[in-house]
Amino acid sequence: MDPKLAAAKAALKYVRSGYVVGVGSGSTALMFLTELAKAIKGGELSGVRLIATSTETEYEIVRLGLGDLLRYPWQVGHIDVAVDGADEVDRGRNLIKGGGGALTREKIIDYWASEFIVIVDESKLVDKVPSTHPIPVEVVPYAWPLVKARLEGDYGGSAELRYSSGKRGPVITDNGNYIIDYKPKSMIDPREGERIIKCIPGIVEVGLFSGLKVTKVIVGKRDGSVNEF
Ligand code: 5RP
Repeated sequence: MDPKLAAAKAALKYVRSGYVVGVGSGSTALMFLTELAKAIKGGELSGVRLIATSTETEYEIVRLGLGDLLRYPWQVGHIDVAVDGADEVDRGRNLIKGGGGALTREKIIDYWASEFIVIVDESKLVDKVPSTHPIPVEVVPYAWPLVKARLEGDYGGSAELRYSSGKRGPVITDNGNYIIDYKPKSMIDPREGERIIKCIPGIVEVGLFSGLKVTKVIVGKRDGSVNEF
């Protein structure tokens, strides 16, 4: 079995009828959404409402026939559980997120939820976050050169504006901003890094997620089993 699917299936047990569910972004979160759709259509879950963390997830909710369940933050007073993927996870449950550029809405929803469940395959496990992945930083377009200079000047390493195929120029997020991918020169503490980087003027959000906010990490394996911590 695809290890991402194993983790996605295992996360279903954290959803109950009547819950407001934050649905993450990326391939693993969309597998969870597909499993959730099956459970709702099969009548195992009822009264569920969904909050999307990206336009991709929003479209997918509608495509799966769950558009009637889609809610926006101003329509709900709380979120019971959020289920989301990650680019890197360590044993302290610290994360790097934002490989798909959705880090700001993900953090709003994931941190707001009473329970935040992270679903990953084994390849995402690292000794200490941040490891090999750069730290995505969402930045107001006007400020990006200053933010780049500040990150590189104050903390060393390299901070690069993110580009992708399909459009000329920088990636533009769901919020109309740019993404800078930052690779620090030396090891930084993820919780301290989240706090310090977030304080730089022009930065909207940083893709370091504190393990203190994560309820459970579910790691899917090739044999279909999962490990939770
Ligand atoms: C998007 C994210 C994703 O959750 C992260 O990139 C993992 O994606 P995938 O499940 O496709 O490996 O943070 O901004």
